[in-house]
Formats: sequence, structure tokens, C-alpha cells
Amino acid sequence: MTAPLVEMRHISKSFGAVTALNDVSIALDPGSVLGLVGDNAAGKSTLMKVLAGAILPDRGEILIDGARASYTHPIGARDAGIEMIYQDFALVPDLTVAQNIFLGRELTRKVAGLTVLDRQTMNARSEALFGALGLRVPSVRLPVLSLSGGQQQAVAIARATGFDARLVIMDEPTANLGAPAIEKVRETITQLKSNGVSVIIISHRLEDIFAIGDHFVVMKQGRVVGRRHVGDTENAEIVEMIVTGRDPRLSGGEAA
Ligand SMILES: Nc1ncnc2c1ncn2[C@@H]1O[C@H](COP(=O)(O)OP(=O)(O)OP(=O)(O)O)[C@@H](O)[C@H]1O
Ligand SMILES: [Mg+2]
Repeated sequence: MTAPLVEMRHISKSFGAVTALNDVSIALDPGSVLGLVGDNAAGKSTLMKVLAGAILPDRGEILIDGARASYTHPIGARDAGIEMIYQDFALVPDLTVAQNIFLGRELTRKVAGLTVLDRQTMNARSEALFGALGLRVPSVRLPVLSLSGGQQQAVAIARATGFDARLVIMDEPTANLGAPAIEKVRETITQLKSNGVSVIIISHRLEDIFAIGDHFVVMKQGRVVGRRHVGDTENAEIVEMIVTGRDPRLSGGEAA
């Protein structure tokens, strides 16, 4: 039996008096798409920030390929192949598309013994990346602030997927997008999956998970309250778990 790509075990995290995560465990296989759903303040973003190295948990551990991971920073998570697209995309508006793509991993070249940024190569590689992903922006030389919401989402996806990611976490990737842009995001996720990349999508839009996902994990008030295969559930059941925080299949509707 092969180990899951990623396991989070018994993760807990409090912010002062607020318990954001209370003994949460999830596992994810390579090339699978997990929908992480739940009401506001359920702890979804916090759980994923822990996985992406942006928040240190109070308790619990993360295993990658069955081995304990010890990163304490997003750069360490990225080195392990884990990329996160944050709810607000975390792009730098004044920088160009290509500069955002290569933020924190800029390419350089030597000119007369001096190290300078290699903008040409970064622009060319950014263009190639958008082409390979089937995503479009007007120009990789434009500042991100001049792009539409859907185009900014494309930049965030390209940045997260362009560098050998094994797991891409997307926090509300289809919120505020129009129908064509939503379809594009869905296609990109399906393409990542067919390349063996795993994806975790946080979404309030259950139809996105039903369309392209494999599993649901439902959270409420810092706990996992239910898990389902997409093919073995329906919208009403997921909504019920989100609202009540109970799995109706467990002992007459009692909480686990
Ligand atoms: N940095 C922080 N400092 C203090 N409290 C926080 C912090 N981050 C999250 N919380 C709290 O932890 C709880 C879980 O928040 P989280 O953002 O993980 O929820 P969520 O499920 O992503 O919700 P939403 O669907 O609204 O994005 C909330 O009560 C929130 O107020
Ligand atoms: Mg959130």
C-alpha cells in the first residue's frame, strides 16, 4: 500500500480564546481533488494555511509521502511541492504578471560580472506557462492591477502550478468569477489532476466540487464533521452536514 501524498494528523490551533482547529485529521492521495467545505469560520482557511506552512499548529503533525514534514514557513512547504492560492490571491498589484509569477524565485543573469534580473527569460517562461495551462492574460508585461478578477485568478493559478507543485490548495477559487472564468478554473483543476497533481479546493460553491472533485471533507467549528466520496452523496446531504455539524449516517444522526 502506498502512503497518501499528504496527511494532516490531529491538528489543533487556537487564536487566543478562539479554537480555530480542534483535532483535525485529513489525508489526500496523489492526483485527487478534495473539496473542503463548511460554514464561515469553520476553520477551512486556517487548516490550509497550516498545510501551506503559513501558520504553525499548536498540536499535530503533517506527513508527506508517509514521512513527517518539519517545515515552519511557506518556502519549506513549497520545497515539499505544496503551493497555496490565498483567498485574496496575494499578488503584488504594482508588479507585472511575469514578476508576480517569479516572485521569490527570480531568475538572474550576469552582465559584465554583475548579477541582474533576467526579465526576458522570466517573460518568455511566463508566456509559455500560460500557454501550457491554457490560461490567458493580455500580456505578462502588464501590472497585475490592470487585470480583471478572472485574469488575476489565472496569474495566481499559474504562479502556484508552474513550478513542479504536487499539491495545489485553492481558497475560494471561483468566488467572484463569471461563468466562463469558473469553467476555466474547473478545466485547469481537471488538467492538474490528469498530470497527477492533487488539488484541495475550499469552496462555498458545492456544484464545483460535484463537477470536478473526488471527495468532500465537511468542517464546522474547527472540527471535521463528515467525509464523503463525490459519487456517493448528494447536495442535500452535504448541506445538512454543513448546517447541523452532524453526519446523518452516524448512529441515528448523533455527532461522532
Ligand atoms: N489570524 C487570526 N487571528 C485570530 N483569529 C483568527 C485568525 N485566523 C482565523 N481566526 C479565527 O479562526 C476561526 C476560523 O477561521 P477560518 O478563516 O479558518 O475560517 P473559514 O472556514 O476559512 O471561514 P470562511 O468561509 O469565512 O473563509 C474564525 O473564528 C476566525 O475568526
Ligand atoms: Mg476562509
